[in-house]
Amino acid sequence: MSRQDQNLIIGLDIGTTKICCIVADLQPDGRLDIIGIGTHPSQGLRKGVVIDIDSTVDSMRMAVEEAEMMAGVEINMVYAGIAGGHIKSGNSHGVVATKDGEVTPEDIQRVLDAARAQPIPMDREILHIIPQEYILDGQDGIKEPLGMSGVRLEARVHIVTGAVAAAQNIIKCANRCGLDVGDIVLEQLASSESVLTPDEKELGVCILDIGGGTTDIAIFADGHLKHTAVLAIGGDHITNDIAVGLRTPTREAEQLKRDFGCALASMVNPDETIEVPSIGDRMPRSLARHILAEIIEPRVEELYTLVSREISRSGFGDQIAAGVVLTGGSSITDGMVELAEEVFNKPVRRGPPQGVGGLTDVVASPAYATAVGLVLFASRFDRQTPHRYTPEDDASFKNVMQRMREWFGDIF
Ligand SMILES: Nc1ncnc2c1ncn2[C@@H]1O[C@H](COP(=O)(O)OP(=O)(O)OP(=O)(O)O)[C@@H](O)[C@H]1O
Ligand SMILES: [Mg+2]
Repeated sequence: MSRQDQNLIIGLDIGTTKICCIVADLQPDGRLDIIGIGTHPSQGLRKGVVIDIDSTVDSMRMAVEEAEMMAGVEINMVYAGIAGGHIKSGNSHGVVATKDGEVTPEDIQRVLDAARAQPIPMDREILHIIPQEYILDGQDGIKEPLGMSGVRLEARVHIVTGAVAAAQNIIKCANRCGLDVGDIVLEQLASSESVLTPDEKELGVCILDIGGGTTDIAIFADGHLKHTAVLAIGGDHITNDIAVGLRTPTREAEQLKRDFGCALASMVNPDETIEVPSIGDRMPRSLARHILAEIIEPRVEELYTLVSREISRSGFGDQIAAGVVLTGGSSITDGMVELAEEVFNKPVRRGPPQGVGGLTDVVASPAYATAVGLVLFASRFDRQTPHRYTPEDDASFKNVMQRMREWFGDIF
């Protein structure tokens, strides 16, 4: 079996509704060209977490094979995303005295260690430690304290933790498909890589990746990640509401949502009608499209209200001048942006993935934000120090965790 070409970077988004594999070819000038994509419906996840390994492995294999065929390449190593309600994040603070009145690399390491020294349950693992700012003798807002004079060094950091088992299961699934996992990346960080502009991150922005089972939130301000959260609500809940509300099979409800759905009932022409398939042998019914929107609107409003609460709780609500950016498959529904503007009272836009070349039209949907983001993320942060491990490697999980920490330690 031939090994994967060195210039190839593969993103594997293991979503609740679909598994998506994207093959990108790194050009000598640093550009990334998408040369292959494979997607397959996934049934083995609930709320962003693998609950059925066999079924996930099957879907993964199909998605990867499809991407291999399209690109005409062999895939051996992937960058995978992680999400789910188990992801928790918070800010922490550490203080140390500098050794010689001047900040050394050891002082920085010690203050970061102090900031992360908080009790974490056995079944949780720190995924990322992201320095936000340093404070030296009371002077805050310092991005790089190395070499500065001062006695009391403080660090504010953002810590992301996740369930150990959830990450292990992702690695296990990939390994069963014969794939190495290069690294695991928090999904909303990957999406922000493909969807947000540097200006938005600097001004302050909240990205919402609204998928099938989860809504992933990340808040950036001053160019740095400030807050992350995952809510276990997504488009599948909307589909369920439609199925129950209109008494139609789930598959038909999904199609109705995609074809005629609207999140803001007042946007729909009251005279417009749609045909709703019934359960069993009964005849289809004709219904005002307005009624479909009235089913969707309260669920999306509930979701946005929860997000709004999360933003307030984060304490960064007044720092997101660039507003909110919606991505993920569920952001496609009409009226999502308009309703979001009403609830958040901020500018809102829909964000398709950008920043890559090649088959851009194939990956133009917001549903591919995470997958495209994974290859961008890997090309930006991992290519300088590439590494691999094999499926047999017992320490593989630890390696990935270590890598994730190093990345974020270096970057932010
Ligand atoms: N054209 C469309 N119009 C409306 N909704 C859509 C459309 N395409 C996909 N969706 C919805 O988007 C959701 C899936 O989004 P996405 O592919 O981003 O999720 P995922 O990554 O598989 O899931 P998660 O991120 O929650 O694990 C589904 O609920 C689906 O109904
Ligand atoms: Mg997703």
